[in-house]
Amino acid sequence: MMDYQEILVILAKELRPARFRHSREVSRTAVRLAERWGVDIEKARLAGILHDCARNLKGKDLLQCAAANGLSISEIEMLQPALIHAPLGALLAERRFGVADPEILQAIRRHTTGAAQMSPLDKIIYLADCIEPGRHYPGVDELRELAQQDLNAAVLLAYDHSISFVLAGGGLLHPNTVEGRNSLLLEMKANRNGK
Ligand SMILES: [Fe+2]
Ligand SMILES: [Fe+2]
Repeated sequence: MMDYQEILVILAKELRPARFRHSREVSRTAVRLAERWGVDIEKARLAGILHDCARNLKGKDLLQCAAANGLSISEIEMLQPALIHAPLGALLAERRFGVADPEILQAIRRHTTGAAQMSPLDKIIYLADCIEPGRHYPGVDELRELAQQDLNAAVLLAYDHSISFVLAGGGLLHPNTVEGRNSLLLEMKANRNGK
């Protein structure tokens, strides 16, 4: 596997400057959340820096790269190709950057839509993407504070923001987002009942 510095050099060349800055901030934010919530810090650092490694691909190039890597694309992803950068990013992290750790790859794969039964690392990357210091939208400060106090409650609020945003734009909800939110609510309920 490439080390963190080698990955940085490649991403600095390939990503647009704003995307590269975002990736570094997601990585830093993920490390802080990992420290707070007892998650492996190196996994958080790597998943954070690589989470958008396929984000510079657009339109035809994105679909071509997905096809070349044997990625199957759902109808909703076909209609909103930007979603593909997450599963494609996981594939490129494995094949181009040599990441073999399935937990890191899963966190990259799930970072845009969320998913049912997210691991603590998945949750941290999903949240870090929403709250890194370059993000500005109504409610982001509340989300930043909650991320320090209650990881699950913060992920729930992030799902709610994401779903509201999609609905406001008249867009299609990805089933993983709906399943992810339902699964998280059930997990929180089970925790409250002392399971
Ligand atoms: Fe992304
Ligand atoms: Fe991102």
